[in-house]
Amino acid sequence: AIQHSFVSRAQKPSQRSYNYVQPRASYKVAILGAAGGIGQPLALLIKMSPLVSTLKLYDVANVKGVAADLSHCNTPSQVFDFTGDKELASCLKDVNVVVIPAGVPRKPGMTRDDLFNINASIVKDLIEAVADNCPDAFIHIISNPVNSTVPIAAEVLKQKGVYDPKKLFGVTTLDVVRANTFVAQEKNLRLIDVDVPVVGGHAGITILPLLSKTKPSVAFTDEEVQELTVKIQNAGTEVVEAKAGAGSATLSMSYAAARFVESSLRALDGDSDVYECSYVQSNLTELPFFASRIKLGRNGVEALIKSELEGLTEYEQKALEALKPELKASIEKGINFVHKQP
Ligand code: NAD
Ligand code: LMR
Repeated sequence: AIQHSFVSRAQKPSQRSYNYVQPRASYKVAILGAAGGIGQPLALLIKMSPLVSTLKLYDVANVKGVAADLSHCNTPSQVFDFTGDKELASCLKDVNVVVIPAGVPRKPGMTRDDLFNINASIVKDLIEAVADNCPDAFIHIISNPVNSTVPIAAEVLKQKGVYDPKKLFGVTTLDVVRANTFVAQEKNLRLIDVDVPVVGGHAGITILPLLSKTKPSVAFTDEEVQELTVKIQNAGTEVVEAKAGAGSATLSMSYAAARFVESSLRALDGDSDVYECSYVQSNLTELPFFASRIKLGRNGVEALIKSELEGLTEYEQKALEALKPELKASIEKGINFVHKQP
């Protein structure tokens, strides 16, 4: 959970003890694509983290104003803006976590894969700079199609000789956030108690919520499983259609990305009880990349949680087999893209 630190010391002690969080550590976070629909609210949420000392914002346009605006919040972190190729290296120097929401979003009628032609090059170029300037950082990829952009990033990092599979993450937290919300609503549960693992990838049928593994343990009818699964898989498209050409999920995405950043910082800070779902290099299935629950530690992925893929229902097992060809093709498309480049 995000701990808010927006109440100043001058305020009443009663308010202070409820809200004020002392800065505890000094991590540096960079957002690439920071002036965009996701980038701006994500920067605000990260500005509120007591674990962050430095927030570095990079975009090809409009980032100066975003940084000036954000820098007036009286929370501990200092905000810096960077723009243009020449400033990218300084943006990335010494950062602990790099979050990448740079790229174009969907419009109605498009699949995430329709974004490949534009976003693949953006991610490739940004990852080259990450490899050159902060090869030890945790890398969080938000830009779609995540199923392909993460393999692209891995190949670029390999070419640069700095690939650490434990530190490259596709951000699928929004699928978990949505699953938790929808299940809590359907079953009248307290939101704070609900945790649904979502595995596979981040597009259409590759998004597989494991409803049978919901905590707290809860029974679903076959119809509920079918309905909830489709609702979670189509939630991104629901937002794209509701925004009617003005983009895709930005606010819920920022919330989810901020949660994943906070979890990563807690892990870096030595918390030994940090678990999230993420799309990472994996040996849990025959696919080289697969989203599952992971344990996060100081060095990134400490463990892939295999047990949640055991004892699946027949519905989940079939859905798992059904998603593999699409996910495999998206992974190969990403890998081939890098190797075809001059
Ligand atoms: P947006 O168009 O509002 O913002 C994108 C930002 O990226 C813009 O400010 C743009 O200037 C910037 N940008 C473009 N090229 C860049 C480059 N080379 N370097 C730095 N910045 C660059 O889009 P958005 O709504 O913020 O969405 C961004 C991406 O996130 C899209 O690809 C979208 O599909 C994806 N997304 C992923 C998830 C997920 O769950 N992983 C959820 C929502 C959106
Ligand atoms: C989402 O799940 O909301 C994102 O992947 C954006 C999209 O295109 O649906």
